Amino acid sequence: MSKSGSSERIAIYPGTFDPVTNGHVDVAKRAAELFDKVIVCVAVNTLKAPLFTGEERVEMIRESVKDIRNIEVDEFNGLLVDYARRMEARAIVRGLRAVSDFEYEFQMALTNRKLCADIDTVFLMPHENYTYLNSTIVREIARFGGDVGEFVPPHVKLRLLKKFRT
Ligand code: COA
Repeated sequence: MSKSGSSERIAIYPGTFDPVTNGHVDVAKRAAELFDKVIVCVAVNTLKAPLFTGEERVEMIRESVKDIRNIEVDEFNGLLVDYARRMEARAIVRGLRAVSDFEYEFQMALTNRKLCADIDTVFLMPHENYTYLNSTIVREIARFGGDVGEFVPPHVKLRLLKKFRT
């Protein structure tokens, strides 16, 4: 139960989502099966200079998960644990695709736990079809005119086409 007395189990699924891929959507859907509410949140990774604006990334995620009743989409700029506390979340969801993700995720999860002991990180494995996927690869293929139809929802493919045409 959260501190406000609500028994709703809320999870935050944060990321850069530049752009959202089928792998992200798969993780969000799995989380939505486990929690009462999942907030997919476009957050700031200070090491990245995104191609899409925060607003564009939020719109693309919203369109991708519009059929799932208990997923909301948001954007924030600040410490993830502060946002999670504000939203009364119990968990942070992250996707684990391969062993190579582990060290980085482990570091983030333990740092977040140090900052806020009440919030746990839950790792979910996307479907094996998506384990090799990331947003950089998708942007790279789209930039050079390749077909990203297998990797992202159709509306994201259109946004990429438009972005690289201009
Ligand atoms: N399918 C496809 N790709 C996936 C994926 C999946 N299921 N899961 C992860 N990825 C990819 C992403 O596309 C991304 O690829 P890219 O590097 O090519 O863009 C990469 O794996 C990991 O990125 P992402 O999941 O978006 O995380 P991130 O490392 O960019 O974001 C934040 C990390 C934003 C959550 C973190 O920096 C944060 O919490 N920021 C807020 C500030 C804060 O609190 N900092 C302290 C954290 S300890």
